[in-house]
Formats: sequence, C-alpha cells, structure tokens
Amino acid sequence: MAACFSLTALAAPKYFIQADVVRGSAGAQGAVCVANSVFFPGEQVVWRAVVFDLATQARLSEEQIKQLGLAVTVTLENGANLNMRYGPHPPDPNAPKREAFWSTSYQIPADAPVGTLKWSMTAKDKDGNTGAFTPIGQDVGLAVLTIAKAQAAAPQAAAADGQALYGQYCASCHQANGQGLAGAFPPLAGSRVVTGDAAYLARVVLFGLQGPITVRGQNYDGNMPAFGSLSDAQVAAILTYVRSAWGNAAGAVSAATVQAERAKPGSPQDNHAKYPK
Ligand code: HEC
Repeated sequence: MAACFSLTALAAPKYFIQADVVRGSAGAQGAVCVANSVFFPGEQVVWRAVVFDLATQARLSEEQIKQLGLAVTVTLENGANLNMRYGPHPPDPNAPKREAFWSTSYQIPADAPVGTLKWSMTAKDKDGNTGAFTPIGQDVGLAVLTIAKAQAAAPQAAAADGQALYGQYCASCHQANGQGLAGAFPPLAGSRVVTGDAAYLARVVLFGLQGPITVRGQNYDGNMPAFGSLSDAQVAAILTYVRSAWGNAAGAVSAATVQAERAKPGSPQDNHAKYPK
C-alpha cells in the first residue's frame, strides 16, 4: 500500500510555478527589469519564476531549493532551453532585491517572426518530482511573450515622435486609446495628473509611481515603472503627446523641463507622497 501511494505521489506534480517575462538590458528599447510582454527583435528576454509546494502552498526558500536539488528550465517552442538560477536580482545594491529563479537571457533574433513565441517552464527535483507552468491560453496576459515588428527607424530618429514612443513604451498598460484598464492601469485620457503640473508629470515618468491613487473615480494601487532610461527629448515628446491626445488639452512639455526634474532625486514613493490631492 505504501509503495502504491508513493508511486502516485511521484506521478502527480509536487510543485507549482508562477512566472513572467522581463526585459534584459542588452539592446533594450524600453524599461529594463520590469515585467513586460512585448519585445522587439534584438531585445533580451529574461524569465522569472517562483516555485511553491503544491501540498503546503508555501513558497520554497533558497535553502529548500538547494536541499531538493530543484532545477527549473524554460523551453521555447523554437527548441531553445534556458536554465534558471535562484538568487536575488537586480545586482544593483541600492535596488530592492527580488529573490526568484532567473533564466539565462534569450536574445530575440533579428529575423524572429512577429507574434507569440510560446514557452513553458518545468521544475524537477533530484527525486524526479515535477511542476510545470504555461502562460494562460498562450495568448493573453503578462506572461505571454509577443514579438513586435522591428522598429523601421533607429530609436534616435523616432525620438521626436511622441505618438510612436507612447505606443512603444506606454500603450501596453495605458492602452493606445489612453483609457487604461480599469482597476489595473489608470486612464491617461481625462487624468488631472496628465493635464496638470508638467514638472510633476515628468517626475512620474522619470521615477515611477507607487501607492493608492484615484483616477476618474476608480481606485488603483499599482506600480508605474520608472522610464529614466529614455532621453529628455523622448520623455518630452511622449508627455506632449499624452497632454494633447484623446481630448486632453494641455500645453507641450519641453526637454528642458524634463532635464530639470531628472536632476532632482526622486522615487515612486516620493511621487506618491506628492501626488496631487
Ligand atoms: C507596466 C505598466 C505601465 C507602463 C508600461 C506605464 N505605466 Fe503609467 N502607470 C501604471 C500604473 C500601474 C499606474 C498607477 C500607479 C499607482 O497606482 O500608484 C500608472 C500611472 C501613471 C500616471 C499617473 C496617472 C494619474 O492620473 O494619476 C501617468 C501620468 C502615467 N502612468 C504615465 C505613463 C507614461 C507616459 C508611460 C510611458 C512612458 C507609462 N505610464 C507607462 C502602469 C504603467
């Protein structure tokens, strides 16, 4: 009876995995090290995962992972296999550490076909117990990896085109029509922050925003990533665009305004503390 039970236990999964995809730094055309699902050819994709014990629902600690000899692997439909390593990330000593399994990076080939690149993840311990993860439906949600058409123009040439830059860096969350997604990403259309003080608006994009806010009567408590990696001219072009699109009617933002705000320290928490009441 005991043998029979342990056979069953071996066959059933022992672990469950939560995972998403993150943009790596090499060749990045957008914010680095944030959860993201749309990538351009030439960009680097890094998979991130945490593993739980199915029976106890507890997240496995680094110690347990070592003891179990747990190995996690990403498999792409194009045949690539990426090993994952558990540890804190990013290496920047000042950034908050997130402990997780991180994959070796995958560079999207320049000629990669546009569309969903399907992937799945498996965990296996030294006794052969397993767990697996596949993004829901392989066609919705943040964990799905979508390869977008390569940018025709060099990023420099696109710098002045606020609408294109918005499409590239902001629309995945705030949507192309500026309406956001209720409860998750606030609308920029009709937002008083977007049409309000340009300096504060620049700080939101440069340093991010984290904490409970209310936009057009709906509550949000999310994490707006920082876009400090964009140039002053790029941020100015995006802000000028969002202040005049979708019925918004506020003045242009200059690169000088962005530059002045960049020079002063900021953080998502600081922006939340100064969020207009
Ligand atoms: C990964 C998703 C994501 C991306 C990409 C993103 N944002 Fe956000 N943004 C958010 C979230 C979430 C919030 C709300 C944060 C909170 O709840 O404190 C937010 C808030 C904002 C706000 C404040 C709106 C208000 O009325 O309070 C502005 C302005 C904004 N984002 C502009 C942008 C711009 C411009 C870009 C592109 C450069 C961008 N965002 C890209 C997720 C995102």
